[in-house]
Amino acid sequence: MSRLADQHFIVGITGGIAAYKSAELVRRLCKQGAQVQVIMTQAAKAFIAPLTLQALSGRPVRDTLLDPEAESGMGHIELGRWADTIVVAPASADFIARLAAGLASDLLSTVCLATSAPVILAPAMNQAMWQKPTTQRNLATLRADGITLLGPADGPQACGDTGPGRMLEPDELIECLTNSQNPGPLENIRVMVTAGPTWEALDPVRGLSNHSSGKMGYAVANAAKLAGASVSLISGPVTITPPTGVELKNVTTAKEMLGAVESSVSGFDIFIGVAAVVDYRPAQVAPTKMKKATQTLTVEFVRNPDILSTVTQQPDPPFTVGFAAETDQPLEHARQKLKNKRLDLIAVNQVGGDDNPFGSDHNTLTLISQHDQVELGRDSKAELARRLVEEIAGRYHAKNPA
Ligand code: PMT
Repeated sequence: MSRLADQHFIVGITGGIAAYKSAELVRRLCKQGAQVQVIMTQAAKAFIAPLTLQALSGRPVRDTLLDPEAESGMGHIELGRWADTIVVAPASADFIARLAAGLASDLLSTVCLATSAPVILAPAMNQAMWQKPTTQRNLATLRADGITLLGPADGPQACGDTGPGRMLEPDELIECLTNSQNPGPLENIRVMVTAGPTWEALDPVRGLSNHSSGKMGYAVANAAKLAGASVSLISGPVTITPPTGVELKNVTTAKEMLGAVESSVSGFDIFIGVAAVVDYRPAQVAPTKMKKATQTLTVEFVRNPDILSTVTQQPDPPFTVGFAAETDQPLEHARQKLKNKRLDLIAVNQVGGDDNPFGSDHNTLTLISQHDQVELGRDSKAELARRLVEEIAGRYHAKNPA
């Protein structure tokens, strides 16, 4: 039997082109035996007909707050009580802003405010709207209030733009909703992961970086999500597909990565730094392509800020995990980093040998804390990430008993 069977879902639909995907979401939820009540905003009805959702869910769609007839039956408070889960898909920028402000200006926002059930949002909007500081502030508020965000995905958009803001596909949402019914060791825990390399420009065409592919960091983000966490993934430039159901922020430089981390890390319980951050950046970035006029070239580099140390210096730091990539004496160097960066745990991998982890689908990890050392051995990055997350969850809960 599906884990969704007999669960009561309110599917909220707000105004956006992705509303057409909601019909498939409702169909799949019902097929798995869930009971579904659809609530639409007025704007949503411009994109998809309530009759379609009524036919698929087997229940009349609710769309009005001040409807005496509906309120005499199952009113907005009863709707909030009836729901085991509320999933708003698509969640528009406007709806996110209203929810973050605590407004109860229509039936859907009122039910979200009145319910004690988990509220899950699948945002969908134009990439520029998604990246606006206002939207990001609203999302940070909602995350801090315990609301779960699924997506958005990155890619081509209906408006012709490309970037973050596509609603997750119905099958991806169903997978996340199914996992959310089976609480993992990181349920209700917020995890931030950095991944990939950074790129430090020398001029408009050249720069300093490294061979990190993002595979290890993306696997860790996915494993944390599967363990029930709400995950924010801050990624340097990579070409691999991000895991679904995590919130992705793309950055280029170490300073941008630090900015993205600093702006929201205070709302997170666990921080895992998998990114291969470039330690130095050119002191000057040439505005135009540098010409090869001389036989030698001397470039001055300045130190980049240390992201992990910035995190552990917060007033109430999250449980902080670092990675150490070392060519020699990996355990000694990793122990130094554990101490200097005041980490709870560090995962060590040796680089440069036959088993170089950069770009590979496999890795070999050893975990070191102040008190112990655990060999995770050699395995696929997905499996190592699963075991690493299991270790982190155990240690996090031991440090923060309920
Ligand atoms: O991306 P893949 O191809 O899958 O490869 C995975 C990996 C080898 C990149 C990964 O497993 C790994 O080891 N990541 C850390 C690489 C690294 O930068 O190690 P480091 O020893 O230089 O840094 C130690 C820690 O400090 C890391 O957690 C790093 O994120 C952090 N750091 C480093 C520099 C800096 N300015 N700020 C930081 O926070």
